[in-house]
Amino acid sequence: MKLVFKKAGKPNLEVDAAPGARLIDLCDQHRSPVPFSCRGTSCGTCCVRVHEGAALLDDAGDEELNLVEALGYSGDTHRLACTAKLRSGPDAGASARVVLEPENDD
Ligand code: FES
Repeated sequence: MKLVFKKAGKPNLEVDAAPGARLIDLCDQHRSPVPFSCRGTSCGTCCVRVHEGAALLDDAGDEELNLVEALGYSGDTHRLACTAKLRSGPDAGASARVVLEPENDD
């Protein structure tokens, strides 16, 4: 599957992603436009809007959901890149995409 990072004013960054991969690892490996600070579900810096493929991400836990909602977003549309993972199990296929856009600037 593909993970696509959108950022206004920049070309999309599209990378291959394996089932079960942590978003934070993919961000680090590919120098994504997603900024991080605490890297541990505390600050909200890494909050991303999920434009496509939310079902390909694991379910958010209470800690993540609480922080996303405290930031004024919904867990249906936003995730924390330091916490979320792609679902494990069979690959959804080469055409499957998760499209993310950071809410904060680097
Ligand atoms: S980097 Fe702080 S919540 Fe993700």
